[in-house]
Amino acid sequence: MQALQARCAGLPVGGRRSPPPAAAGGTAHPAAATVRCSAASSTQKAAPSSSSSSSSSSSTPASWPSAEARRAGYGSSPREPALSVPAHVTGRLPAWLRGKYIRNGPGELSEMEHMFDGYGMLLGFDIDGKNNSITGSRRFVESEAWKHYSATGKMRWREFATAPKYASLGERLADIVNTLLGTLGLSEAVTDNASVNVFPLQDGSAVAMTETVQGTYRVDLSSLQTLGRVQYRGDKIVGDLTTAHPQPMPNGDLVNLVSTVGVGFHVYRHPAAAFEQRQLIAKVPHRRPLAPAWVHDFPATQNYAVIPEMPLYFNVGKLLFGGRSDAVFMDWAPQDRTTLHVVDLRDGSRRSYKAPACFVFHWANAWESEDGRYLHIDACLYDDPEICNDLYLDPLRAEYAPGRVPGRAYLRRATIDLQAADGSEVPGGWQPLVPDEVCPPFDFPKVSPLKRGQPYRYVWGACSVRPTSAHNSVGKWDTQAGTVQIWNEPGGLIGEPIYVPAPDAAAEDEGAVLVVVVEAGGASSLVCLDGATLQEQARARLPWQITIGFHGCFVSAA
Ligand SMILES: [Fe+2]
Repeated sequence: MQALQARCAGLPVGGRRSPPPAAAGGTAHPAAATVRCSAASSTQKAAPSSSSSSSSSSSTPASWPSAEARRAGYGSSPREPALSVPAHVTGRLPAWLRGKYIRNGPGELSEMEHMFDGYGMLLGFDIDGKNNSITGSRRFVESEAWKHYSATGKMRWREFATAPKYASLGERLADIVNTLLGTLGLSEAVTDNASVNVFPLQDGSAVAMTETVQGTYRVDLSSLQTLGRVQYRGDKIVGDLTTAHPQPMPNGDLVNLVSTVGVGFHVYRHPAAAFEQRQLIAKVPHRRPLAPAWVHDFPATQNYAVIPEMPLYFNVGKLLFGGRSDAVFMDWAPQDRTTLHVVDLRDGSRRSYKAPACFVFHWANAWESEDGRYLHIDACLYDDPEICNDLYLDPLRAEYAPGRVPGRAYLRRATIDLQAADGSEVPGGWQPLVPDEVCPPFDFPKVSPLKRGQPYRYVWGACSVRPTSAHNSVGKWDTQAGTVQIWNEPGGLIGEPIYVPAPDAAAEDEGAVLVVVVEAGGASSLVCLDGATLQEQARARLPWQITIGFHGCFVSAA
């Protein structure tokens, strides 16, 4: 393990709670670097040493984000909207790349405790590869939570890990009651801060989402203006806790779920042409009716959705009255292991299978074997949910200090035999798709949109060159060759990479990777990488500071 880390010099892949690697050299070099890591190879090229901020000490590893990058990336963006501001483009965009990249994420974190707490801000890039130009836009999602905070400077509702500062006992009690009723699906008085994801609909608008049904807003793709809260009518789908990762189906439908204390999961479909008209597919009871497991994302194919009921449970008492548990306000009970509920989207039937305990934010892909017998689900899989604690803002903003290395995810696959009996064990559990020793800590996995729900080879994702838990690199996993390529932004931070296949691409990786970067000096840029080589092709610098965000999408102009 240590030898492999040394061979990927400058790009230590790190290990769970192992001591951090020795500091790399500190020559200032603004250029990003790529390196290929392979368990079998000993010819990896060392990456150049990264730049360091002026405040970094000589013992700070070169991969640690600079003070300027942390200040910008975990800070706040300007509150006033900006529309179609020209970015300064260096390099050459692919001429075929034309469209809009839009992403959501926290734009205001100043009073928050955790990365998941900030108020949602949309960031849009209009890309014209033919003319090698990019304009940038930004606008906060006009949720009730944001409007209240921006007008009063006070939080209206609890966010993921930050509670309002109550002015009176009455305010505190009212918040407790509303939160309790919200978990039961009986109150709309929960946060509507749509800060996690944004995706397009067939009518040309888009939807910004968080993990409450209340926080589902239509937005205009061009102006980024908030058009209004999505109102579901006429269905029996009870509950307010949902995922911000609805799964696209080949016909344009979306599949998602809500989870309600005392009720369970409801799996439903949004018809492509009628997002507001949800159609119930199946109900799945919780293992612990009063403590639902957290489901942030789930894998799905055209025929199946898998609800991963992992042993990370909402502690409703902590949620109501405050206080930390194993992971923020949630309890970790690995003895319960993981239950994979496979819902047949055609008829709503279900079988459930057992797998080892794990924690997953995001699933890379899911696909069925040619004969339809096996269902493969691929994940950024953590051994435990400690990463949730790593994402508190204090450790993210901190200067480097030797010590514990934060949590990490590996690329893992479970293969479910769909003919196996209900309740049976998944054979082999979670299997690595590349050797663990070359798999850098990563998340935000992306496959080509042309390969969603299909057999595939490549995964792109945001990864961490240790010892930081922050994402500072883009990785490309080759699941056939068992290798990983890495592009590193020295001293900086990056967001979720998006893969855009080239028109009429002959190869799965013939395309571009778009990624938002906070540079070591604090400047904000959109970087375009070659999908095959991860070589940087172009960089568009914005004239304002951005925070590191979450999820987005590319909408082609073609
Ligand atoms: Fe997510």
